[in-house]
Amino acid sequence: MTSLPATPVAFDAFRPEHRADPYPHYARVREATPFLPSGFGVDFVTRHAECSAVLSETLWSHRDEAELFHPEADRSLLPTSFLWMDPPDHTRLRGLVSKAFTPRTVTALRPRIRELVTGMLDAALAATSVEAIETIAYPLPLIVVCELLGVPAADQAMVHRVGPGLARGFDPDPVLSPQERRTRDENTVELVTYFRDLIARRLADPRNDLVSALGAVHERGDTLTEHEMLTTCITLLIAGHETTVNMVGNGLLALLRNPAQLDLLHERPELAGPAVDEILRYDSPVHMTTRTARCELVVGERTFQEGDSVCVLVGSANRDPRAFVRPDSFDVTRYATGAAAPRHLGFALGIHYCMGAALARLEGEILFGELARRVRALEPAGEPVYRPNLLIRGLRELPLTAVPR
Ligand code: HEM
Repeated sequence: MTSLPATPVAFDAFRPEHRADPYPHYARVREATPFLPSGFGVDFVTRHAECSAVLSETLWSHRDEAELFHPEADRSLLPTSFLWMDPPDHTRLRGLVSKAFTPRTVTALRPRIRELVTGMLDAALAATSVEAIETIAYPLPLIVVCELLGVPAADQAMVHRVGPGLARGFDPDPVLSPQERRTRDENTVELVTYFRDLIARRLADPRNDLVSALGAVHERGDTLTEHEMLTTCITLLIAGHETTVNMVGNGLLALLRNPAQLDLLHERPELAGPAVDEILRYDSPVHMTTRTARCELVVGERTFQEGDSVCVLVGSANRDPRAFVRPDSFDVTRYATGAAAPRHLGFALGIHYCMGAALARLEGEILFGELARRVRALEPAGEPVYRPNLLIRGLRELPLTAVPR
């Protein structure tokens, strides 16, 4: 990935110095071509129509991502999650998990999310300035997903310690240092050991939490094995907070840089939900995902053969002017009721569409709604610092001052 071949278009969106703003680099490639060879055996897909076509076609498999990005990783450390399965295995597992992780489970979290948001905003408004990733963006989804699963408060510091290393570990191995790869593997082992124990305890003594609910799922005589429970818990835990932290961080930064949008959100509280979708489009937490053709497949003007792989550039598709009016403007009314903006790809599309979308939306809607109600302005209190991550992209530090209304 670091050594891309010479092509008519230079693709430098992934360079560390462009992490803060990869969008002009995406735009150059997107305008030049819908498909660009990457130099590591996959083609980048750059435009909204082509990315949507790939994501919504089940014959594009998600099974080979580990092989493409982590060819030498030790796969015995963690059994594969349904995120990287195809039908019928994916259909079976997602179906079983959705019996436990239901819309009602999500709605029940509303009062607790509101309580957490209120406490975090109280603290931010009382302080001269805060580092918003460490005080709001990270703890909110971390606490919510841990409580949802039933990870006790005493163990949440461990999750906080291992999560970032695992999220960085999703990036292709060639961009990871040997230390980052070691950290990913060590953190995987630590989390697997932890959840094996937690699952065993919940199976023996069920509580009112998602780990216990997964253990109790029965569907036409089918149940989750302990292995399947293990990967599901770890997937929900990591997908449930390492993405949402970036939705919150990227959203805070967008509102800090676009004060008129914060005012609009204050004047029209019903825009809090649509604002979350605009954040996911404007500065997507997940920037790419891969798919591999299971047979000959046509996308746009291109024919792919069985075994050909692509890397769908979600962050680029979401700024495609062919799909979105003024794609580089942050506009909290874009997804307002009755507006006709096309779907963003922030939660993907098709069978792997984010299973936690309703939960992430709920967290964002409560946080940004409450923020606009109580905060008159967000002002910078230092430079934002990005994590090095490519796949799950977002901030490591966001120092800011929250000015009360
Ligand atoms: C703003 C926050 C979030 C974003 C941007 C996000 C984004 C995504 C994306 C893009 C995918 C598809 C990945 C692919 O096809 O390669 C996905 C899948 C998934 N997400 Fe999320 N996610 C978020 C929050 C959550 C939460 C809160 C949970 C659960 C607690 C969750 C659980 C999952 C699961 C289980 C899958 C796999 C679905 C499948 O393969 O069928 N996500 N997410």
